[in-house]
Amino acid sequence: MDREALLAAFRLQAGGCRLFDSPLYAQLCERAEEDVRADGPLARLLVDWEGDPLHAFLPLRVLGAVHERVLNGKAPQLAQHYPTAGGDADADAAWPAFLKVVDEQREALLPRLENFPQTNEVRRCAGLLGLFLHAARRTGLPLRLREIGCSAGLNLQWAQYGYTLGPHRWGAADAPLQIEAEWNGAAADFDAPVSIESRAGCDLDPRRIESDADVRTLEAFIWADQPERLTQLRAAVALARRDPPRVEQASALPWLERELAEPADGVCRVVYHSAFWLYLEPEEQDALRALFAEHAARATPHTPFAWVRHENNASIAEIELRLSVWPGDDERHLGMGHPHGRRITWF
Ligand SMILES: C[S@@+](CC[C@H](N)C(=O)[O-])C[C@H]1O[C@@H](n2cnc3c(N)ncnc32)[C@H](O)[C@@H]1O
Repeated sequence: MDREALLAAFRLQAGGCRLFDSPLYAQLCERAEEDVRADGPLARLLVDWEGDPLHAFLPLRVLGAVHERVLNGKAPQLAQHYPTAGGDADADAAWPAFLKVVDEQREALLPRLENFPQTNEVRRCAGLLGLFLHAARRTGLPLRLREIGCSAGLNLQWAQYGYTLGPHRWGAADAPLQIEAEWNGAAADFDAPVSIESRAGCDLDPRRIESDADVRTLEAFIWADQPERLTQLRAAVALARRDPPRVEQASALPWLERELAEPADGVCRVVYHSAFWLYLEPEEQDALRALFAEHAARATPHTPFAWVRHENNASIAEIELRLSVWPGDDERHLGMGHPHGRRITWF
């Protein structure tokens, strides 16, 4: 293990956690840095781990593995300080309990460090909603939703959630999952009529909502002082278990080539993704863009094609909400968002 790279990874992660509203994890990452410098239990846990700790998001893997022990009831002392387990978010008290888990539960933690952090953040639907509504208003047609990199497929259910977005409301007030976000700027097309023709998604490595172990993995990667995200995830999983969206294990390009080849008279095909594009190699991004250009060129008012994205710009702190609808314009930048969907500014 390259110690300097590990230190840099924890330092950056501490900054990221602070920026995205997790003071508990920010402090644990700062303490982790000190532990690595002092060759403490965390340094010993990671000594044989191979890879680039920064690009592999190793700090998030460690935090996720330890959080999983807490959620499984295997770390009761640490649970007292993890709000997702009813604890108090006291970082000073959490740190020794955290180190104790690292020191004593090494055998259970090490295999979990092989997992790439996996999330399915349902509050991203708050930003996606405005883009879908815009496409519905522009085309006046039912939406055929196709999500790439959909994880467990929970964001395929966006139309079944209720939303309170600043002063705006959308969806049923009694929907089992209510999403709240801060909303600044203009109103989106909240009164646009919208209907869904069908919904399906693919992921290279999907989480299966019917598997308790897979759901636990998604839960574990939620930050332990953000219990509202855990509540939302669980509500979305409960909904999906009653009416599961179609999720296939596949790479985005071949899957979309097949899906977009289906006849599409009288529907608006909507391809969308969130927190996905940055995981692709440049060649894969180019190939997807070429596929979209091909379908854009063939789109007609009866067979429109939309590309919706909720992705980081060059600064990791900001999300750009972008939409293209063909035939017609090439691209509209309709808003800015927060990586976990907490805040939206609509243009
Ligand atoms: C950070 S997660 C985001 C999941 C979901 N879109 C969300 O916003 O919560 C990124 C997902 O992209 C998937 N992924 C990465 N490359 C892919 C590819 N080439 N094709 C399909 N899925 C891919 C990963 O497996 C992972 O589940």
